[in-house]
Amino acid sequence: MSNNNIQIFDTTLRDGEQVPGCKLNSEQKVIIAEKLDQLGVDVIEAGFPVSSPGDFKSVEGISKIVKNATVCGLTRSVENDIKVAAESLRYAKKPRIHTGIGTSDSHIIHKFKSNREAILERAFEAVKFAKSFVEDVEFYAEDAGRTDNEYLARVCEAAIKAGATVLNIPDTTGYCLPSEYGAKIKYLKENVKGIEKAILSCHCHNDLGLATANSIEGVINGARQIECTINGIGERAGNTALEEVVMVLKQHPYLNLDTNINTSMLYGLSQLVSDSMGIYTQPNKAIVGANAFAHSSGIHQDGVIKNRETYEIIDPKDVGVTESAIVLTARSGRAALAYRAKNVGYELTKLQLDDVYANFLSFADKKKEINDNDIHQIIETSKVYQQIISA
Ligand code: KIV
Ligand code: ZN
Repeated sequence: MSNNNIQIFDTTLRDGEQVPGCKLNSEQKVIIAEKLDQLGVDVIEAGFPVSSPGDFKSVEGISKIVKNATVCGLTRSVENDIKVAAESLRYAKKPRIHTGIGTSDSHIIHKFKSNREAILERAFEAVKFAKSFVEDVEFYAEDAGRTDNEYLARVCEAAIKAGATVLNIPDTTGYCLPSEYGAKIKYLKENVKGIEKAILSCHCHNDLGLATANSIEGVINGARQIECTINGIGERAGNTALEEVVMVLKQHPYLNLDTNINTSMLYGLSQLVSDSMGIYTQPNKAIVGANAFAHSSGIHQDGVIKNRETYEIIDPKDVGVTESAIVLTARSGRAALAYRAKNVGYELTKLQLDDVYANFLSFADKKKEINDNDIHQIIETSKVYQQIISA
């Protein structure tokens, strides 16, 4: 792995599946995991094995079929969680246990009714215990986003001493500003003894709509793994969207950070996850939303028809979308109408277009969107129809 390669840790099947009412069964999870493996993710977090027999079965099933990616199971800093996770991962070619504990004062005082030293000790013991089952152990400091940096650095040091290979720094509540999250990663890179033995991982939630920006700031400041989900699904406002971070890095090559993702599979995977979970993806969702490559205003359509890059920074084919869409509405201009008419077989002269366009506007004022059948009707009912078909 080059030092500029960003590992993509997909948690669609664990954190992503925490969306209320969207539980997947084991068969569905195995199908998605197989696709994630083909997509090129480096790690698949397959579930939280101790949480239910169903989740155990899913992690076990995924461990059997995944060919390339590391398969990971989540645990708390609890011995039985770790034992059960190790058991569920026994068929994995590359197993990883993901264990950790809350490190912010809010978690330490209210959730654990404990103190910083005792939590630090538990973190160390959990990693050490996980290490007795697998070589690859990732430690998460839950609510790291609101954890005091000096204490966080001490916890990270303890986790490394116990053998952690990855240190996950979650902004669990989606609170941090990008500059703050980036500074946190930088602080850990510069102040944790032994940091060269582990990689730092970004795990950002989207409560303020900053998950993608925070993860990107994290890798710019030295993290080398991003935890994310397809379509950004997850608890509350969701997690970092995999398709977003991958495309940010691809579209900004001067950052010199790359991933192993086959981006042409992104749209298909987005559809698979959305259909399997029954979660509708918002039309304006970046990269994979229905309108991400659709142009509807006359000015934009004219620009895109002349040169796609006028209003598009991504070639839709790069993410598995066949082509940009020119959507006909009452806001569309002549260029868009001529383009769509040509697509259904009519080559219009400038004068014919003027006449057909007038007819189009009266149709479009009554209908939200004009489809191919409507175009036929608009042309057939225009004054110049005979002239068009006899040309
Ligand atoms: O958001 C979070 O803190 C988590 C951890 C359990 C990794 O999902
Ligand atoms: Zn999370």
